[in-house]
Amino acid sequence: MSEPPGLDGGLTNYGDRDFARYLRRSMARSMGISTELLNKPVVGIAISPSGFNNCHRTMPELTEAVSRGVLAAGGLPRAFPTISLGEVFLNPTSMVFRNLMSMDVEEMIRAQPMDAVVLIGGCDKTVPAQLMGAASADRPAIQLVTGPMMTGRYKGERLGACTDCRRFWAKFRAGEVDRDEIEQVEGRLAVTAGTCAVMGTASTMACITEALGMALPGTAAIPAVDAQRLVAAEESGKAAVRLARDPIRPSEIITTESVENAFRLLMSLGGSTNAILHLTAVAGRLGIRIPFARLNAISDETPVLVDLKPVGEGYMEDMYAAGGVGAVLRELKGLLHLDCIGVDGRTLGERLSEPLPWVDRKVVRTFDDPVSRVGGLIVLSGTLAPEGAMFKRAAATPALFEAEGRAVVFENLEDLSRRIDDPALDVERNDILVLKNAGPNGAGMPEAGYLPIPAKLARAGVKDMVRISDARMSGTAYGTIVLHTAPEAAVGGPLAAVRNGDRIRLSVSRKRIDLLVDDNEIRRRLADWVPPPRPTRGYGKLFRNTVLQAPYGCDLDFLVGETPS
Ligand code: FES
Repeated sequence: MSEPPGLDGGLTNYGDRDFARYLRRSMARSMGISTELLNKPVVGIAISPSGFNNCHRTMPELTEAVSRGVLAAGGLPRAFPTISLGEVFLNPTSMVFRNLMSMDVEEMIRAQPMDAVVLIGGCDKTVPAQLMGAASADRPAIQLVTGPMMTGRYKGERLGACTDCRRFWAKFRAGEVDRDEIEQVEGRLAVTAGTCAVMGTASTMACITEALGMALPGTAAIPAVDAQRLVAAEESGKAAVRLARDPIRPSEIITTESVENAFRLLMSLGGSTNAILHLTAVAGRLGIRIPFARLNAISDETPVLVDLKPVGEGYMEDMYAAGGVGAVLRELKGLLHLDCIGVDGRTLGERLSEPLPWVDRKVVRTFDDPVSRVGGLIVLSGTLAPEGAMFKRAAATPALFEAEGRAVVFENLEDLSRRIDDPALDVERNDILVLKNAGPNGAGMPEAGYLPIPAKLARAGVKDMVRISDARMSGTAYGTIVLHTAPEAAVGGPLAAVRNGDRIRLSVSRKRIDLLVDDNEIRRRLADWVPPPRPTRGYGKLFRNTVLQAPYGCDLDFLVGETPS
């Protein structure tokens, strides 16, 4: 087997290849690296530590452990930075910057001399961005996640970000918890390094990355602070050297079949709605598209097997102790495409043929004794969402699955925050809250779809209402919430036509969301619609001019790949 090009790959263009090689090597020697190591296969390590990203706090020790593995396997590790997206530190929302990070990752993998790359990420948008970039660069790549946080304790109760953040905030809004107590809880929700402790977006993406075959088996759920997380990093480094010498490219791993496997796992996790957007965008980089009808079929055939918050009871530390992603995949085996290959060079069938020593059935249920007989997420369509809307039935209130109500409309995020708690707001418990102009074009698609229950109803004991928007919702949130409505209001979708007092009908059994207004009247209202202003410069302008709607994963139109022949 011939050695890969290593540092001689992709030489800088001076019109003299030998000079470029000589110059590169002289600069590399200034880093104090021996000539023996300079001749080894090169493994890039894409890192994104940041003082604005708590979830990436362990990046230095993970980088060291990956490097250890690369060196042990006979490669040269080279860490390089990319931008970092700390979910709660970004304005207007991290979603706007996922595509920017993906471009950074793609271009730096392609531009720099590496034979393979280990991508270290964790916080919500970082793993999707890294996978999107790696898929487009199509150089051998392994994803290593930073891993989930451990839970905190408060008055004998386990707490984890961020389902419990929302639960306590709802109690605070309802007057059940006072200011002193909410401040104490604030200090107990996120108590270790790592990503949010429940089956939110970060955990969902970690799990489906493993199912996709882009991470080593068994690595998704290891807590950030567990020593096994460092062993996983070391093993990822070793595996990357194997991939450098015997390449398997992302385009060989991310296929229609492996994407379907990942969607299948997503349904069984009761995972985040955001993962639909992200997986769609990752697949889209390779021209792969799974129709909504197929997604709904997968959801209807796939039971929810994992009993974690926000759908169930446990936390990611329980999932790891229970057997992790492998335990779930073994239950789903009969529904999976088993010939898909992973970064370890084995097929999924080979990986799953190894027995697991023990599975905690309180956390990972058997196929025949599921948390729910059907999958966690479905796509709705109807006159309010001709191109689809997302609904997390696993985290919704079944009594509201078939609902018709009067629309209470908020024109945008500012209008929502100004009026939602106004005592004079005309709203009743059976109304349907509607938020417009929070989609990708309207506001960058923030996690605003979890509209708060109006304060006067919350204090009257109302825990859930039907809420509809073109926004996203945090993977850690719950409620009867219709999201990602497409086309969004800011591009003139029917959502833009909804007015206070209109009737709206949600039918989960028929997978429909309908605006009960005459078609001609909707057309007449939309004829008067005026698009919101657009940014005039910079990345904001690029984003707004090229972002695709939710059914296309909100990628930028010029980044989507060609459909494979
Ligand atoms: Fe990073 Fe939740 S804030 S995963």
